[in-house]
Amino acid sequence: MSTAGVLLNQPIVAPIRPSSPADTTTLTSTTSHGSDASPKVVDTSPHADHGFATRAIHAGQEPDSATGAVIPPIYMTSTYSQEWPAQLKAGYDYTRAGNPNFDRLETQIASIENARYATVFSAGLAAFTGLCASLRPGDRVVAIKSLYGGTYRLLTKVFQPMGIVLDLVAVGDWSTLAAKLPGAKLFLFETPTNPLLEVIDIQRVANMCRDAGVMSCCDNTFATPYLQSPLQWGIDVVIHSSTKYLGGHSDVVGGVLVTNDKAIKERSDFYRLAMGLNPSPFDCWLVSRSIKTLAARMDRHSATGQSLAEYLSKHPRVSRVHFPGLPSHPDHNVAVRQMPRGYSGMVSAEFNLSLEETKRLISSFKVITLAESLGGVESLVDHPASMTHASIPAEERRAMGLNDGLVRFSFGLEDAHDLMTDIEEALAKVLAARETSKDHTATDDKVC
Ligand SMILES: Cc1ncc(COP(=O)(O)O)c(C=O)c1O
Repeated sequence: MSTAGVLLNQPIVAPIRPSSPADTTTLTSTTSHGSDASPKVVDTSPHADHGFATRAIHAGQEPDSATGAVIPPIYMTSTYSQEWPAQLKAGYDYTRAGNPNFDRLETQIASIENARYATVFSAGLAAFTGLCASLRPGDRVVAIKSLYGGTYRLLTKVFQPMGIVLDLVAVGDWSTLAAKLPGAKLFLFETPTNPLLEVIDIQRVANMCRDAGVMSCCDNTFATPYLQSPLQWGIDVVIHSSTKYLGGHSDVVGGVLVTNDKAIKERSDFYRLAMGLNPSPFDCWLVSRSIKTLAARMDRHSATGQSLAEYLSKHPRVSRVHFPGLPSHPDHNVAVRQMPRGYSGMVSAEFNLSLEETKRLISSFKVITLAESLGGVESLVDHPASMTHASIPAEERRAMGLNDGLVRFSFGLEDAHDLMTDIEEALAKVLAARETSKDHTATDDKVC
C-alpha cells in the first residue's frame, strides 16, 4: 500500500490568509536523511463533498491496498528498508520523519477540520511546542489569561526564559487585546476555555488578528471539529490535544496542528522531525479509530452535558454552573452561533460547600472518576485549583475567575440519570458528615 506521497485534502473552505509576520521564516524541510519532506498530500477528493460523519469514517482510512484489510494496519516500525542509498520505496525513511499512520490520521483530521493540512504530534503540548519553535528572542506572543495550565506553564517556564515576550489578556477585554496585537507574532486562545467554559467570538478574533497581521491560533480541544470550525471563521491555526475528545477513550496522548497555510505545515513537519515531537504509529491508529465515532459521541456528550448542566443549575446546593448551552451563560449567544451542534460534555460548577467538603464530594463519586483529563467515554471530575491548573499561581487563578471551589466535570457516555444519582448520593454523604461533625462539636461543648 502506498499512503506515501498521498494527497492532502482538497480545500473545502476558505481562502488561505496571507502570510503573517511569523510566517516569514523559511525553513527547508528535509527528512532525517536529507530527502525532500515537502508536505505529503492526501487525496480525499472522493469524500470532499460528504458530510462530517462520512469524512470522519473514510477520509484517509481507505482499506489496505496490499491485503484488502478494511482497517488500515499499524506501521509499528522505526525505519524502512531502502533498495539503494537514499532511494525510498514509498517516501518513508525513519518514523520520526514520517509514517503511514501519521499520514492517514493527518488526512482524516484535516478533512473534518475543513483544512488542507494537519501535522500530528506526541501531545497537545508538543503541537504548541512545534508551533512556537520558530519564535525568536524578542518575539511577542499574546494569549488569553484563561489558558489551560499546561499551556501556560509551557509559555511561562519554557518559552519566556528563552526570550519570548508574553502578554496575557483577560477574556472579553477586547480593547486591551486590540492594543496588544500590533507587532505581536502570535495570538493564542481557547474556546470554550478550560475550565471556566467562557466562549470567545472566533470571527472577531480572526478579524482583529488579520487586521494586525498576527497569526491566530485556536485551541479547539474542548469543542472538537464536530462542534466548532475555527478555520472557517478565518483562524490560521487550530490545535487539538487529541488525548481528549478526538481520542475519546482515555487511552492515548496525542496532539495535532491543523492549517490551510503550506508554510505553517512545512514548519510544523520540520520541528516535529528536528525536535522529536512525533507520536507513536499505534497512538495515531487509536486516534484514527476513535475519530470514526466522533460525531455520535459528541452528540451524546452534548446531550448529557446539557441535561447535567440544567440539573446542576436548579440544584439548591450548587451556587454556580458554567456551561455555554445554558441561556444564562454570558456568552450563550456567541456559542449558539459558532457551536451549532452542541456544547460538549464539559460542565464546571461551584457547590455551596466549604473547600474541604467540595474535595470530599468529588472524592466520593461511584460512577464519576476523580482524575485529570477529559473527553473520554467515562465521566471524570477534576479540581482545577489543585490539579490541572495548579501550575498557575493562586493570585493569577483568582484574577481570571478560577475560584478554589470550582469543580470541572467531563460528562461521558453513561446514562445521565446514573450521573445525577451519583452526585446526589455523594452530596448526601458530605452533608451527613457535616451534621455528624456538628453533633460532635455539640457533644464536645457539653463535655467541656
Ligand atoms: C484545552 C487543552 N489544551 C491542551 C492540552 C494539552 O494537551 P496534552 O495533555 O495532550 O499535551 C490540554 C490538556 O489537558 C487541554 O485541556
